[in-house]
Amino acid sequence: MSETKNMTENDDRLYVALDLPSVAEAEAMVETLGDAVQSYKIGLQLLPIGGVEFGQRLKAIGKNVFYDFKFHDIGATVAKATRSIAGLNADLLTVHARPDVMRSAVEGRGDSALKILGVTVLTSLDRQALRDIGYSDTAEDLVMRRVGQALDAGIDGVVSSPLEAAIIRANVPTDFLVVTPGVRPAGADAGDQKRIATPATALSSGASHLVIGRPITQAPDPRAAALAIAAEMRGVSC
Ligand code: C5P
Repeated sequence: MSETKNMTENDDRLYVALDLPSVAEAEAMVETLGDAVQSYKIGLQLLPIGGVEFGQRLKAIGKNVFYDFKFHDIGATVAKATRSIAGLNADLLTVHARPDVMRSAVEGRGDSALKILGVTVLTSLDRQALRDIGYSDTAEDLVMRRVGQALDAGIDGVVSSPLEAAIIRANVPTDFLVVTPGVRPAGADAGDQKRIATPATALSSGASHLVIGRPITQAPDPRAAALAIAAEMRGVSC
C-alpha cells in the first residue's frame, strides 16, 4: 500500500467497513479507494487473520483506524486487552456497553489517544430477541439506559442505529461520538440491515461518524461510490 495525498474531497467521518475475506483483498480495496477514503473499520472477519497488523500498516500511511473488537469479558481482561490496543496507535475501539466493561476499557486505555465506543444494543436484536435473552426493556429504553452508563463510565461515544441517533444526541454532550452503521445511500440494497437511513439523514439526526461497508466495497466502482457518499455528507451542516 502506498501513501496517498489528499487531493480529492474525502470525509474522515466516513469509516469504510473492510468486511472482506482476506487481508490481501482488504489491501486491494484500500488501493482502489486511494485518497477517496481516510478512515477504515476492521472487524471480526479480518481481526483473527492479520487484521491488527493490517491496521498498523494503514496507520503508517496516514489513515484512521477503528478496531471493531466488541470486547465483553471480566474487567481485568478487558482492561488488559484495551491496554494492548492502546499501544497500537489506533483511533477507535468498541466494547459492549456494560458498565463494568466500559469502566475497565477506560482504565486500560490510560492516557492514550484511543477512543472507546460502547455498542449499545446490536441492531439485529428486536423486542422478542431481547426478551429471549432476558431483557424486558424495549430496544430504545435499553439503548438510552446504556448511553447513561456510557457517560458515567467516561467512554467517548456509542455505536447505534441511525434511527436512535437523534434521541441519543439530545441527551449527550456535543463532543460525545455517535457512530452509526446501517447507513445506505438512497436506492442502495439494504442487505441484512433492517433499520437504515441515508448518509445525510444519519448525520442530520446527530451521528458524528458513519460506518458503511457493502454499498462501497461491493459497488461496481467503489471509489466513485465513496466519493458520492462523501459529497452527500459534506452537504449536511452539523
Ligand atoms: O456492509 P454494511 O454497511 O452493512 O456494514 C456495516 C458494518 O457495521 C459491519 O462491519 C457490521 O459488522 C457493523 N455493525 C453493524 N451493526 C451494529 C454494529 C456494527 O452493522 N449494530
